[in-house]
Amino acid sequence: MLNNLKPRPADKILVLSTLFRADDRAEKIDLGVGVYKNAEGHTPIMRAVKSAEKQLWNEEDTKTYTSLPGDAGFHQAMADMVLADSVDRDRISFCATPGGTGAIHNVLETIQAAHPDTTVWLSNPSWGNHQSMLNHLGMKSVSYDYFDAEACAVDYPAMLASLQGVKEGDVVLLHGCCHNPTGANINNTQWEEVAELLLAKGAIPFVDIAYQGFGNGLEEDAFGTRLLASKFPEMMIAASCSKNFGIYRERTGIVMAISADAETAKVTQQTLSHMNRQNFSFPPDHGARLVTMVLTDPELRAEWAAELEEVRTGMLALRQQLADALKAETGSDRFGFIADHRGMFSRLGLTEEQVIKLREDNAIYMVGDSRINIAGLTQKNVPIIAKAVAAVL
Ligand code: LMR
Repeated sequence: MLNNLKPRPADKILVLSTLFRADDRAEKIDLGVGVYKNAEGHTPIMRAVKSAEKQLWNEEDTKTYTSLPGDAGFHQAMADMVLADSVDRDRISFCATPGGTGAIHNVLETIQAAHPDTTVWLSNPSWGNHQSMLNHLGMKSVSYDYFDAEACAVDYPAMLASLQGVKEGDVVLLHGCCHNPTGANINNTQWEEVAELLLAKGAIPFVDIAYQGFGNGLEEDAFGTRLLASKFPEMMIAASCSKNFGIYRERTGIVMAISADAETAKVTQQTLSHMNRQNFSFPPDHGARLVTMVLTDPELRAEWAAELEEVRTGMLALRQQLADALKAETGSDRFGFIADHRGMFSRLGLTEEQVIKLREDNAIYMVGDSRINIAGLTQKNVPIIAKAVAAVL
């Protein structure tokens, strides 16, 4: 049987991590996978999360199952953070999942259960695993224009023009903030226009929000998601806690599905829970519990919010430093967009050959589409990277 299996295309981001680990050059620089790193190149456990973990260790007196959709306290804390009061709570169905990827998978299966023929629209480009999961589930997908590869900015007119092709009942996947892989994002006015267009088309928005707090701020980054939630009768949201709580390996994510009314939300809830049961039964709870504690305890929350803000502003400073260093090295403004982008990534606009050359000659690792993880930059490596990039141009 197993000899019938076909080789599968490896995930480009994960392959890069493997290559990086195997490289024994001391000066190697990892700008690959989207994991936060501090100036020492370490991914720390956030202070508030560590405090919550200690408290949990003391207080937790059972490891029995939670419920299929996870803990209700987690649902409400996440709804407070992502949606605030943009939509009536009784229209939301929730499901805790293993990470944001688990949430996306649950959402896609739920869409499929409702309408197997649904077309899902993805930005071009999008996070590689979006397309891969759609293919895996045998779902129909189309892409909408998003990125101007020359300017390394959102090609907003092209985005609107493509979205004109959306048909009633189509699902349109939007990155809630901090677009991955480009780092280029639509502004609030554009969110409003996209919302109006999709409403007129009868589309269902599906927001993937994995970097809330990494862009313009915790509240600011929720603008688009909350706007859509306030306007659309139906909407799907997949949120990840991996990055903004730094709990990558705990696999903590959530689905929030908005139905037209509270009655429908009950049936939606059954479907979300059913998907968990079929795929892995109960969701992981440890990370979800830490998130709930951090979000609901005023002291822990304040500490977490302050640390998240340090992370965010630290990345903004690194963006500016790299933009400045590249300006100095290349004598042009070509890379000015790095300072304007938001979130964990920027796509530099280099060719695949240039990316490979940087890896082979300089031990600088970035994804093949020239996406860099901003958190991989440090004051020390920025000048090295800028020199190397200028040299391959
Ligand atoms: C990334 O885009 O690097 C992250 O979302 C990690 C992943 O799983 O790909």
